[in-house]
Amino acid sequence: MKEESLKLAQEHGTPLFIIDHEVIRANYRTFKKHLPRVQAYYAVKANSHQEIVKTLFEEGASFDVASYNEFMQVYEYIRHFEEKDQDFYIWDKIIFSNTIKDRDTLRKIRRYKPLVTFDNEDELQKIKEHCDTAGVVLRLKVPDTGSQVEMSSKFGAEPGDARHLIAQAFDLGLVVEGLSFHVGSQCTTFDNYTAALDIASQILHDARKSGHNVKIVDIGGGFPVPYDSRVPQFEKLAGIINAECDRLFPDDVELIAEPGRFMVATAAVLVSEIVGKARRDGKIFYYINDGVYQTFSGVVYDHWIPNFHAFKPGRTEVCAVVGPTCDSFDKISLSEQLPADLQIGDYLYTENIGAYSIASSTRFNGFEGAKILHRNK
Ligand SMILES: Cc1ncc(COP(=O)(O)O)c(C=O)c1O
Repeated sequence: MKEESLKLAQEHGTPLFIIDHEVIRANYRTFKKHLPRVQAYYAVKANSHQEIVKTLFEEGASFDVASYNEFMQVYEYIRHFEEKDQDFYIWDKIIFSNTIKDRDTLRKIRRYKPLVTFDNEDELQKIKEHCDTAGVVLRLKVPDTGSQVEMSSKFGAEPGDARHLIAQAFDLGLVVEGLSFHVGSQCTTFDNYTAALDIASQILHDARKSGHNVKIVDIGGGFPVPYDSRVPQFEKLAGIINAECDRLFPDDVELIAEPGRFMVATAAVLVSEIVGKARRDGKIFYYINDGVYQTFSGVVYDHWIPNFHAFKPGRTEVCAVVGPTCDSFDKISLSEQLPADLQIGDYLYTENIGAYSIASSTRFNGFEGAKILHRNK
């Protein structure tokens, strides 16, 4: 892949973001194979490129959407369905996982009878008022210890408030279809999942005892990607989840998940180009034509640790790699072991950059961001 990427960069120019759709399909199949009881809703936010949505749609995935626009990206492929098939698809295969939805969005999605999450009373009232056709899923606050991106400080009801919120939803005439949680993105502490499943199970059984037939448990995202050899294996996590789910949930509970990173992170590489070189306080600074305002935005928003590899061999030393904008904040990494004699016009290669990268890229300073190229579409 590395050699082929170099050729593609020479042919198409840089920065070049190469998406391999066969890797996306393989990731989806791996997920399904190891978690056979779990329906996989791809979290579109991880990489919302339309061609990725298309590949996963064709693969039979379901979708987690955070906004009306993401919903429409999926709707694109069912637009031609008959109304009853559309309704079935939307109910069965799409979840609005953003616990806070503005009123305008709720009004726009009302006609689609969507499945939406909530985690507080004000949201419930808003859903009732502007989207009373919705089925609701209560998002719970669960431990997210050690995850690359934490979630629980912003989302999720305290487990102790769950009984009251479920009762309130039913009192309003809404139906609580399920419970959800998110253990934090790139979760390598598998105890977070066991703790969350345990919390969800207690609340589900409690609700059922009170006569509320809560049916769905949504185990969220967080499934870790092998960015380095210390990341524990997904297969091991899947074994733990399967055993816990079989222990905690009867067969009539529908299990769903919202994997984002897992589907796309390993499916893309970036080839960037050195556009400037300087020595500052003794350290080599390579200025490249992509930065934290573009494809490396994950360094800021996703706490992502970038990786850089040179195509040319050479004696290495610790170098900084920085972006092309005028902002001094635009430093991608201050410590990369790279050949010291790379020159302007040489290329760098970054792996596993498919998730939370182009999704949050900007055009700051007038830089366009990477050109996107598809393999195995
Ligand atoms: C509600 C929700 N579901 C799923 C995801 C996807 O998580 P991940 O990429 O860790 O699988 C996110 C990520 O932010 C999220 O907020």
